[in-house]
Amino acid sequence: MRAATLLGALLLLALASGSCADKPWNAWYWSEFDPDAAEPTTFLKTDEYVIARNLWFHVQRFFAVLDASDVDKYSTHSPDVPFSHNIAAGKLPLTNASLHFHNIQAGVLRGTCLWVDFPFPAFPENMGHWAEALLPIYSALSDGAWAATAGLAPEAAHLSSVIFPNLRREQVQGLTWVMDMLRLTLRPGLKSPRAMPRVLFFDELESLNATSWLGFERVLVVHSRYAHPEGRNGFATPEHARAFREAAYAAANVSMGGPAWQAGVAPPVITYLLAMNHEPVVNNGEVLAALREVGDALGMAVRPYSVTPGAAFPSFVASMAKTGVLVARHGPLLANAVFLPPGALVLELLPYNWEWHGISEIYLNLTRSVGCLHHFAWKANSSEWVMYLEKEDAKYSHWTAEECSSRYCLEAHARAGMIVDTDTVKAALLDLLPRALRGEPVQQLAERLPWPRGSQSREGTGLWWDLD
Ligand SMILES: *[C@@H]1O[C@H](CO)[C@@H](O)[C@H](O)[C@H]1NC(C)=O
Ligand SMILES: *[C@@H]1O[C@H](CO)[C@@H](O)[C@H](O)[C@H]1NC(C)=O
Ligand SMILES: *[C@@H]1O[C@H](CO)[C@@H](O)[C@H](O)[C@H]1NC(C)=O
Ligand SMILES: *[C@@H]1O[C@H](CO)[C@@H](O)[C@H](O)[C@H]1NC(C)=O
Ligand SMILES: *[C@@H]1O[C@H](CO)[C@@H](O)[C@H](O)[C@H]1NC(C)=O
Repeated sequence: MRAATLLGALLLLALASGSCADKPWNAWYWSEFDPDAAEPTTFLKTDEYVIARNLWFHVQRFFAVLDASDVDKYSTHSPDVPFSHNIAAGKLPLTNASLHFHNIQAGVLRGTCLWVDFPFPAFPENMGHWAEALLPIYSALSDGAWAATAGLAPEAAHLSSVIFPNLRREQVQGLTWVMDMLRLTLRPGLKSPRAMPRVLFFDELESLNATSWLGFERVLVVHSRYAHPEGRNGFATPEHARAFREAAYAAANVSMGGPAWQAGVAPPVITYLLAMNHEPVVNNGEVLAALREVGDALGMAVRPYSVTPGAAFPSFVASMAKTGVLVARHGPLLANAVFLPPGALVLELLPYNWEWHGISEIYLNLTRSVGCLHHFAWKANSSEWVMYLEKEDAKYSHWTAEECSSRYCLEAHARAGMIVDTDTVKAALLDLLPRALRGEPVQQLAERLPWPRGSQSREGTGLWWDLD
């Protein structure tokens, strides 16, 4: 596994850092800093990304060193320049930046550092969040416009390093999926496919000597859906999705192509994905029985697929490659749907009252960005389809989706078991599948079963008391 090689390399580098003990402020990933050549920090923002130059890190914070006259250039009425989803750069306005640069003990990370701002660092095993962060990066690197924006010559248009400023190394250790996915994502931004850049985590920043400063020559932050002006999730174009899937199949040693593939007709296999680390579908047995009836009627095989995020990346990719219909409860492992073959269909099982900020459409937006996948959902429209985990949670059973916007109500529904209306699911599949298998276009078929709206309850409780 190449992931093992990468971790091995990181380990070696970590050991190498120990040998610099005679110069404790001079970390292994730094180059010498020349104060005479230093310039103030600049930010260049487009819809797709931000490029920061000469960004600084010092004592647990990022800083923008600005000429005092530029203090409002990138944000007004704020002590920070907001430039990534989770992290801001504190403004450091100086009357003489050169004097400051001559006064500090510093090192510089040279070249372009890709900044991966993981959306929710408390959930590093969440593949949905990795897809949110990495797929737009793949698109930006494939497109390559960032290098021209940064004024780089073609021979300098590659990444020298990657930083996860809000994750610790141990948080992703053991998640080989993440490292394999990262390797695929970075490939279009590398000088050569084998030259993985340095990968830095918060560990490196945290261990910096408090007297020293670390400069980043150039930082590339690609907008995920949280910062993109249109809230776009996934790939920028279906071509990027196709190239990414091709690379993933090659990495997983899965062959693709053939006449059915060209015609966008998916394999005759229904996969029922059961995430072992995630809240369950209570009537899994009934769902499987219903899927088998559909399979028998249409000549399709039915395969339950129980997995955890710890499974190997090639195993996910290979399973998706052989799937024509993916059925799963809404959850992070649905991010694997981007590896489905053209013409495949996703039927997502959406829990009751799971609507906050359009959250039920996260995976729909992902598969939409792939372009050639059908995506439908059955949504639990009343608490009849919920099995609350705690007795206490049942107090939310008749709240509307609008009212259910507090953490407490959402979490109560996230941890609840869901019961699936198998008759409705079966009828939907029997109607949609023959058309999908005939190669009906995605947009045309989408009209047959529109995406479900939130809770149908009009009454509500009038209670918003636990809003946070
Ligand atoms: C930090 O750097 C200063 C200056 O080189 C040095 O005197 C001090 O020992 C260093 N502290 C640590 C904890 O390495
Ligand atoms: C700023 O500081 C530098 C020393 O680093 C000095 O040479 C220069 O004259 C100063 N500029 C002003 C405008 O004071
Ligand atoms: C990849 O597939 C080929 C042909 O099926 C096989 O010979 C080879 O052993 C596979 N390699 C790996 C690493 O699985
Ligand atoms: C889904 O995509 C639409 C259109 O781009 C966007 O407005 C919406 O915010 C996205 N929703 C999520 C949850 O990403
Ligand atoms: C709720 O969904 C079921 C299908 O699961 C449907 O039969 C029923 O009519 C829906 N109820 C409302 C009020 O929309």
